[in-house]
Amino acid sequence: MFDVEAIRREFPILARTVYDKPLVYLDSGATAQKPAVVIEVVDRLHRELNANIHRGVHYLSEVATEQYEEAREEVARFVGATKREEIIFTAGATASINLVAYAWSEKSLTAGDNIVVSEMEHHSNIVPWQLAAERKGAEIRVIPFDDEGRLLIEKLPELLDARTKLVAVTQASNTLGTRPELKPLIDAAHAVGAVVLVDGCQGVVHGGADLKALDCDFYAFSGHKLYGPTGVGVLYGKEALLEAMPPFMGGGDMVDRVSFAKTTYAPVPLKFEAGTANYIGAIGLKEAIRFLSQLDAAEIEAHEQALLRYATEELQRIEGLRIYGTTDTKCAILSFNIEGVHGYDLGMILDKLGIAVRTGQHCAEPVMAHYGVQGMCRASLAMYNTEADIAALVKGVQRAVRMLRG
Ligand code: ALA
Repeated sequence: MFDVEAIRREFPILARTVYDKPLVYLDSGATAQKPAVVIEVVDRLHRELNANIHRGVHYLSEVATEQYEEAREEVARFVGATKREEIIFTAGATASINLVAYAWSEKSLTAGDNIVVSEMEHHSNIVPWQLAAERKGAEIRVIPFDDEGRLLIEKLPELLDARTKLVAVTQASNTLGTRPELKPLIDAAHAVGAVVLVDGCQGVVHGGADLKALDCDFYAFSGHKLYGPTGVGVLYGKEALLEAMPPFMGGGDMVDRVSFAKTTYAPVPLKFEAGTANYIGAIGLKEAIRFLSQLDAAEIEAHEQALLRYATEELQRIEGLRIYGTTDTKCAILSFNIEGVHGYDLGMILDKLGIAVRTGQHCAEPVMAHYGVQGMCRASLAMYNTEADIAALVKGVQRAVRMLRG
């Protein structure tokens, strides 16, 4: 049985109060809280093991390098990569996607080509492609979603053609919670010779990744949303694609030989890891993944889905409240607006009650445009949330509505 109280005890921050009220943390889609094992390993690394990796012959450097490379293996195993070389550590999902948008486009995108992105993407999976398209004279095409928040993959035949070089799509929308049907989308893209990049930021947290089954070509996520440290992220890429890509950033650690006549590069993954890597972040992420791997993913999903159902049912009772994203396979992200209530005011009142939600555009302006709204209030859940958190949210929203509607 999933024991949420036992889980909560692993997350020290959840015991704190905010304005003398128990913290109700419903902003895990922005960043998840960290279990003590992650906090402790980051602390211990600084106290006992700090040394730059891949550079020293001394003891500390060798142990740090070993642990960093173990982190790569752990991530590879966790996402189902075929080889450890397919895992590149970056500063976060945004850095991962920009890496592909620059380095892959450099050789694989030419004028007249097109890139297909979904309408529900986070800005991090839109803007890098716009920059690449501008640089190369390519076109951006958009897969729409319907008002329920379902991605209309049946539109793919109209969008994909022989000039489609890449499809960029989320595994789970950070605003709607939608988990698009990725397998048929990936198969359709491959059928026209395009590669697929999946933004796994929310999806890897809510359901995990099985990249062997999914067969996408690139996959990106951030450590801090997966209960790991900030400032570290992952790019998975199929080895042949990574090998064919030129480096993104130049610097130390990504080279083989450097001379003014000619510089050659290290093999993947180091070719894409210029500069001092965030080894402490990567080793912290390994700890987060080990923590997660000891838990039952199906139980976590069932727990989050039960909370999502409870929150949906209760919030829907509030007059004038509209939930955005109502597909039945969505993950535990709940965005809504209330007629006559400004989202920012709502967020401020909830904050004073100790309830942390996110308001605004959620870095997904096209989603806001789809519904013709300026912003949304979003509660994003995690394994450590409880029915009491949801009850507090519902009560808080009711109170805010009374106050704001007068
Ligand atoms: N991308 C993060 C979110 O959805 C920050 O809140």
